[in-house]
Amino acid sequence: MKEDRIQLFDKTFKPYIRHEQIIAAIDKVAEEINADYRGCQDIPVVLCVLNGSIPFTGELLQRLEFNCQLVSIKLSSYQGTQSTGTVLNVMGLTSNVRGRRVIICEDIVDTGNTIVALKEMLLDKEGAADVRICTMLLKPDVYDKNEKLDYVGMSIPNAFIVGFGLDYNELGRNIKDIYVIDE
Ligand code: IMP
Repeated sequence: MKEDRIQLFDKTFKPYIRHEQIIAAIDKVAEEINADYRGCQDIPVVLCVLNGSIPFTGELLQRLEFNCQLVSIKLSSYQGTQSTGTVLNVMGLTSNVRGRRVIICEDIVDTGNTIVALKEMLLDKEGAADVRICTMLLKPDVYDKNEKLDYVGMSIPNAFIVGFGLDYNELGRNIKDIYVIDE
């Protein structure tokens, strides 16, 4: 239906994943993480990759049943609707993660450049004891890395999406549902 479409700058998007489906995917990954970490003696770090993962990490965090610390980092590799292939560390970690177990919370894994560069940096440069990857969404047709993705909410085809934290040139992050580009 025409009125379901949304316009962000020069692009039109149509409804794709309903909020309820996103929440169900978050419930599922939270259960998997709880099964692995419940009862742990250490305080794992939940690392929010800003800005896109804010809504996802916020929902996930409320479902985690073990003591954990929320830390953030800001990275950037996307310009418009394309990955640039270069991952920039825009803002450092908000807290030291040396010797800690880290669960990276990512909104979406596309080529995997961001997640692989971040995991390497956390282990080699920041001295994390262990790093696991949790992503709300995965584009398996584009992901070309060998790195294991420990927790995946939902796999989707290769299309550009916005909403629930995901943006098109910083617009669309506040939309409850996920929309796909209408080409
Ligand atoms: P990667 O490094 O190619 O895996 O890209 C990961 C990052 O690119 C994500 O954290 C998002 O910020 C952004 N990204 C990838 N796909 C999309 C999309 O479909 N919409 C909006 N942002 C995306």
